[in-house]
Amino acid sequence: MCGIFGYIGNKNCIPFIISGLEKLEYRGYDSAGMAYIRNDSVLEIKKVVGKVQNLKEILDFSDFSKVGIGHTRWATHGGISVENAHPHTDCKGNIVVVHNGIIENYKELKELLINKGHVFKSQTDTEVIPHLLEEMVDKEEIGLEEAVKELFKKLEGAFALLIMDKRNPNILYALRKQSPLIVGFGIGENFIASDIPALGDYTDRFYYLKDTQMAKISANEIKVYDMGVGKYIGVEPIRIPQDRIRAEKNGYPHFMLKEIFEQPLVVRRILSTVNKNRDELQIEDIKSIDISWEKIKKVFIVACGTSYHAGYYAKFLWEEELPYFIEVELASQMHHRNLRVPDETLFITISQSGETADVISTLRKVKEKGFKVLSLVNNPQSTVARESDYFINLRAGIEIGVAATKTFMAEIVYLGLLKEYVKNKLYKVKIDLDKWNMLPTYLENYLSNIKDQVFETAKKYYQKKNFLYLARGRNFPLALEGALKLKEISYIHAEGIPAGEMKHGPIALLDPETPVFGIAYKDDAYSKMINNLEEAKARRAPIIAIGNEKDKKLENLVDDLIPVPNIDPFYYPYMGVMVLQLFAYYVADLLGREIDQPRNLAKSVTVE
Ligand code: AGP
Repeated sequence: MCGIFGYIGNKNCIPFIISGLEKLEYRGYDSAGMAYIRNDSVLEIKKVVGKVQNLKEILDFSDFSKVGIGHTRWATHGGISVENAHPHTDCKGNIVVVHNGIIENYKELKELLINKGHVFKSQTDTEVIPHLLEEMVDKEEIGLEEAVKELFKKLEGAFALLIMDKRNPNILYALRKQSPLIVGFGIGENFIASDIPALGDYTDRFYYLKDTQMAKISANEIKVYDMGVGKYIGVEPIRIPQDRIRAEKNGYPHFMLKEIFEQPLVVRRILSTVNKNRDELQIEDIKSIDISWEKIKKVFIVACGTSYHAGYYAKFLWEEELPYFIEVELASQMHHRNLRVPDETLFITISQSGETADVISTLRKVKEKGFKVLSLVNNPQSTVARESDYFINLRAGIEIGVAATKTFMAEIVYLGLLKEYVKNKLYKVKIDLDKWNMLPTYLENYLSNIKDQVFETAKKYYQKKNFLYLARGRNFPLALEGALKLKEISYIHAEGIPAGEMKHGPIALLDPETPVFGIAYKDDAYSKMINNLEEAKARRAPIIAIGNEKDKKLENLVDDLIPVPNIDPFYYPYMGVMVLQLFAYYVADLLGREIDQPRNLAKSVTVE
C-alpha cells in the first residue's frame, strides 16, 4: 500500500512532493522516489531505499520544476532496492509512472513487451506500465491520452497511477481502479495524492476519483474522464475544512500515543450525535438507516485486523440482547466461502480506512447477491462508505499511527450504541444514556491515573520474547486486539487465546519466560478466568492481569495487577482496551521501535 503524490503548477514542485510523501509515509516506507521535468525538459529521477528523509538527502533543492510525481513504497513485487523503487520509466526515458496497487497480469505483459524488444530494469509489476504506454504511443501511434485510457482494458488488478511524459510537461494523468486517489483543486496549481492528509496544507477542495476514472490535470484545469460513460464528466469538488485534515502530534512523541489519549474526546464526539431521549433513541448516522430490524434473521460482520476484533466483540455484545444469529468472518477468508445465508441477512463491514481491498471485494460480492450492507468507516469519502447501502462515520478523526487505537474505540462504542438503538427499536426499552454519557469522563480519568503503572509494568516485561493474552467470552476479542497491538509495534510474538482453550494445547508454551496477560475483571467470566490463571501460575508463567482494584484474590495470584475501578462493569472493556494499547506502546518504545511506522506494515491494505 504505497503512497503517491503529484503536483503541477507554477511553483517548484520539489518541496510539495517531499512534504506530500512525508504525510503519506504511513502507507509504506520501504523506498521512496520522485521524478520531475526541469524547464529544459530534462527528466530528473531520484530514488532511494528507505524513508523520504533519505530522498531529501540526495535532492538538489535549488533545482526548479513545475511538474512532478513522487512515491513512497510498500514492497509487494520485487525486493527492496533502488531499481525497484518508483518512479519507473519506459526504454527511452520519456514516460514515467508511479503506482499504488498490484498489476495481476504483469508477468504476461512483461513477457509480451520483452518479446517486442523492451528492456526492463526492475522486478516490479509496475514497470510494465511505462513500457506498455511506450509501445502504444510510439509503435501503434495513438496519443498518450488514448493510450492511458487503454490501460483500463489492458491492466488487471488494483491500481492508482500518476503518469507524466517529459515531452509534454503541462499535463499529468491520474488513473484509479480500486486503489484510492484524490485530486486537490488549487489556484494556478493542482495536486493528486493517495490520501487526504497529504493535501490538507494546500487546499480544502477535493474530488475522490471513482473506479475506472482518469483525471487529465494541468496547472489550471482538472478534467475527469469516466470509462463507464466513455466521456469527460463534470465533477463537483467537495470542501473539507483543513483543520479536519491536518494531523499533528500535539507534543506527543508518537501519533499512536496522541491517538490513545484522544479516545475520551472521540467518545464524547460520538455521544454528541446521540439525542437525549432515552425512550426513543436517535443517533445521527443511524436514524437515516431504513433497515427493518424486526425482519432481520442474521447479521454477518466482515472486517480485517483490528476492525475484525471490534466485530468479534460486537458478536458477544449483540447476542446477549438481540434476536439475531451473528456470524463474524475475516474479509480475506470471504474469497473462499460459499455463502449459505438466509435472505434476511444484514451484512456489516467495518473498516477505519474504508479502503481495505478484502473488505471492498466482500462488499461488492454480497451486494451483487442482493444483500444490504451497513458499514462503519472512519473516512466518509472512502470506497467502502460510498459503495455501502448505509454507513456510520466513526468520527475518530484522521488516524496516522499504523496501529489502530482510537478507531478501534470508536468501532466498539458505535457497535455498542447500535445494539442499544436496535434494542430500543425492537423492544421499546428505555436506554440508560447517563451510563453512556459518563464514559468519556471515566476514560479520561482512568487514562491519566493508570498510564504510569502500565509503563512500570512494561519496564518489567519488555525484553520477553513471547506473550500469551488470555480472556473469556466477550473479552477474548480484546485479548486478540492486545496481542495484535504488541505484535505489530514491538515485533514480539504474542497470541490471544481463549483462556478455556489453554488446557487443550497452548498451556505447553508456558514457562517463566512466557508472560501471560489476562483480562480478569469482575464480570460473568471472572471465576472461570481465575481458574485459568491459576493453571498458568502452576506452570510458573509470570502473570499480568487487568482486574478490579483491591481484588485480593487476584492480587495474590498474579505478579502485576493493573486495576480498573470498582464501578459498573459496563466500563471495564473500554478501560481494558486502553491498558492493552498503552502496554504495547510502552514496550515498543522501550525497545526503540518505529512506533508510528512499524516495519513491514502499512496503514491501509489496498491490495488483496
Ligand atoms: C491494526 O492496528 C492494523 N493497522 C490492521 O490490522 C488494520 O486493523 C487492518 O488492516 C484493517 O484496516 P481497516 O480497519 O482500515 O480496514
